[in-house]
Amino acid sequence: MEKYALVTGCSSGLGFEMVGWLLEEGYVVLGVSRSGLDINNSNYLDIICDITNEDEIQELVEIVSQNTYGLNLVVNNAGIFEMNSLKETSSELFLKHFKTNTLGPFHILKALEDFMIENESHIVTISSIAAKKGFPNVSAYCASKFALTGLIESIREEWKKLGIRFTTLVPGAINTPLWDGVEDYSRENMMTMDDFIHVFRMVVTSPSSVQFPEINFQHKSGVLE
Ligand SMILES: NC(=O)c1ccc[n+]([C@@H]2O[C@H](COP(=O)([O-])OP(=O)(O)OC[C@H]3O[C@@H](n4cnc5c(N)ncnc54)[C@H](OP(=O)(O)O)[C@@H]3O)[C@@H](O)[C@H]2O)c1
Repeated sequence: MEKYALVTGCSSGLGFEMVGWLLEEGYVVLGVSRSGLDINNSNYLDIICDITNEDEIQELVEIVSQNTYGLNLVVNNAGIFEMNSLKETSSELFLKHFKTNTLGPFHILKALEDFMIENESHIVTISSIAAKKGFPNVSAYCASKFALTGLIESIREEWKKLGIRFTTLVPGAINTPLWDGVEDYSRENMMTMDDFIHVFRMVVTSPSSVQFPEINFQHKSGVLE
């Protein structure tokens, strides 16, 4: 039987890597992003959708409904990250982080509840060390990721009766395009995308009776300061 995975933020960085690995594992993958991902693989379905936009989420639901019988795996990965001092952080930028990093996963999980397979579906959320600890010049990002923790923990309790597994990945810095344009941090002390995929693979291939509620991991040199 086919296994279906939906990954948000598929067009770049970690999302792109997760899609590639899931296809290798034999999943049928539905990739979600605003700019799209051009992969020539019959098991890949590209969905253009801004997860902040409820109308576009409804179109995504139609596509999921027409192409799957349910979702074995949902990966909440899409996110934005911008560094600014508090003074330079406008309300618009603050809200943009919440709309993408918190409201987006809310839209996705609310819309996909009907596609959950009892005692089977697994929700993996890519959070951040910035959901655990404040860092300077990322107030909007930190606040949106702290809020994401509350959202996911609440839905996990609500869907416990359905036997749905939840994993939140809490990585430190990873060398992806998210850091393009940020000059103050050397990429030498960041994890690689391979490091990330190692942990993702462990989570996705774990026995269905096992749940990792939260996994913290980082480069061996510690958290970027
Ligand atoms: N890299 C790190 O150091 C690090 C560390 C901890 C946690 N994380 C988290 O890991 C996740 C992925 O980050 P990354 O490093 O892979 O970043 P990235 O390379 O910038 O990729 C971000 C992805 O999110 C998508 N996206 C952004 N806004 C969207 C929207 N409104 N609707 C749909 N898709 C949207 C982007 O696609 P489009 O622009 O095409 O829409 C892109 O595919 C994020 O949640 C980030 O917070 C990253």
